[in-house]
Amino acid sequence: MLFKKIGRFEFDNNSNFIARVLVLSLPAALVFALLGALNLLTPYWIIMSYIMVLIANMFFLLPISTELQQLKKYINELAKGEINEDFNVELSEQEAKEIAEAVNSVHKFWINRTDALESQVMSDTAVLDTLPDPILMIDRSGNILGANLSARQFLGNDITNKNIENVFSANNFINAVNRVLKKESEAENLIFYSSIDPKQKVYAHIKQLPWFSKGRTVAVISLYDLSKAVKIEKMQSDFVANASHELRTPLSVISGFIETLQTSAKDDEQAREYFLKIMADQAEFMSELIENLLSLSRIELSQDEKPTEMINLSDVVDEVVQAMSLKAENKNMQIISDVPEELPLINADHQQIRQLIQNLVDNAIKYGLSPSDITISIKEVEKIPPSKSFQVSDGKALSVSVNNKGTKISREDLMRLTERFYRMQEHKDLNIKGTGLGLSIAKQIILRHHGNLTVNSTNYNGTTFTVYLPIEIKS
Ligand SMILES: Nc1ncnc2c1ncn2[C@@H]1O[C@H](COP(=O)(O)OP(=O)(O)OP(=O)(O)O)[C@@H](O)[C@H]1O
Ligand SMILES: [Mg+2]
Repeated sequence: MLFKKIGRFEFDNNSNFIARVLVLSLPAALVFALLGALNLLTPYWIIMSYIMVLIANMFFLLPISTELQQLKKYINELAKGEINEDFNVELSEQEAKEIAEAVNSVHKFWINRTDALESQVMSDTAVLDTLPDPILMIDRSGNILGANLSARQFLGNDITNKNIENVFSANNFINAVNRVLKKESEAENLIFYSSIDPKQKVYAHIKQLPWFSKGRTVAVISLYDLSKAVKIEKMQSDFVANASHELRTPLSVISGFIETLQTSAKDDEQAREYFLKIMADQAEFMSELIENLLSLSRIELSQDEKPTEMINLSDVVDEVVQAMSLKAENKNMQIISDVPEELPLINADHQQIRQLIQNLVDNAIKYGLSPSDITISIKEVEKIPPSKSFQVSDGKALSVSVNNKGTKISREDLMRLTERFYRMQEHKDLNIKGTGLGLSIAKQIILRHHGNLTVNSTNYNGTTFTVYLPIEIKS
């Protein structure tokens, strides 16, 4: 056992061991020297006794020294991260055993701490990745230590470890970051233009981390792409401009005729009747326009509210057919409905679905061939066709198709039919009245129900608008 330990002992690094043996043997050496001085021991026995004491001490110290050296080597490797397992060499010395056990429990404690920290970091990263806006974490020198998913998508996957000055070129942004890093300011907010797309306006919020956060991250930058908001603002102002323009046209017609009636046509009875009729038409158009604008804004307001009713689509179709058949007959058209007897109820807003189908039937009457038939059919389908721009509901659905005969709608027109105020030139030329809002209203209703709309148009079959509505809305 002892020889095995001597074998394991590294004599290369044993100056401490020899010093310890000599120090431990010093009292014996003094005793032997005293005995020699008193002539009680001969020099031969003094030397022999001292050698025996040295050997005894060596044998006494060697095991503990060997085991301590092994432990030292193990702890050094552990500190360098070269190994990751417990110390499991069998030890004979009690002190060495106790040290090994203590080291093992410290090791276990740190492994648990590291695991907990790693899972904390992973869950923090997952949370940051779910945020829609880019977030960057930077160190004292402006190096990017971390970037969430949105930042990596915005600035590139290799963004980490780059310096902020090599990623952004806007001087006002770099200066603001430096002010925060130099602690001249606690937080900075500014707008700058992105170096990736000079038209892209970005809002930045740069914030120093509180002093008690001990990590390398000293500041966090959050970015917000303003171009989306600018686009929405532009759409809103375009909408207001369009709406005012649409209202101004009939209004100017009415005021023009009022002036005519007050002056040149004052005493002309026939002209008066004619002008009054036009004025009444224009007033009716204005009230229709206002009604549609209000309707659109009401539907947009309800966009996030899930409909609560369960409705029978065939009842809704019957209501629409009843309401619209007179208008169809006036154009020598007939509305035919092809509806299965048994239909599942659907989760939908009754009033909105009625408005949606009515708008489609109204278009079929206005733009369909006279005389011809309009067909409304309902079918049960396995799933709603997907859309690139919005989310449709999963699962079974009902489809409502409204078909009218007539000339084919061109591809360019088809793409723009649901745009607000969009009307096909040929219908404007034919002087067919319309606000250009009916299909935009239909689209908003479909979006609220997580459904979809398809349009098919050929010269032979005419035009078919098909609305898909989920039986159960799953968002
Ligand atoms: N069934 C159809 N056949 C041919 N063209 C159509 C059909 N439905 C719609 N369109 C075209 O699409 C345009 C937009 O339709 P939409 O229903 O939004 O507005 P509108 O009918 O002009 O006005 P509103 O319905 O508000 O009175 C119409 O002006 C027309 O040019
Ligand atoms: Mg219409």
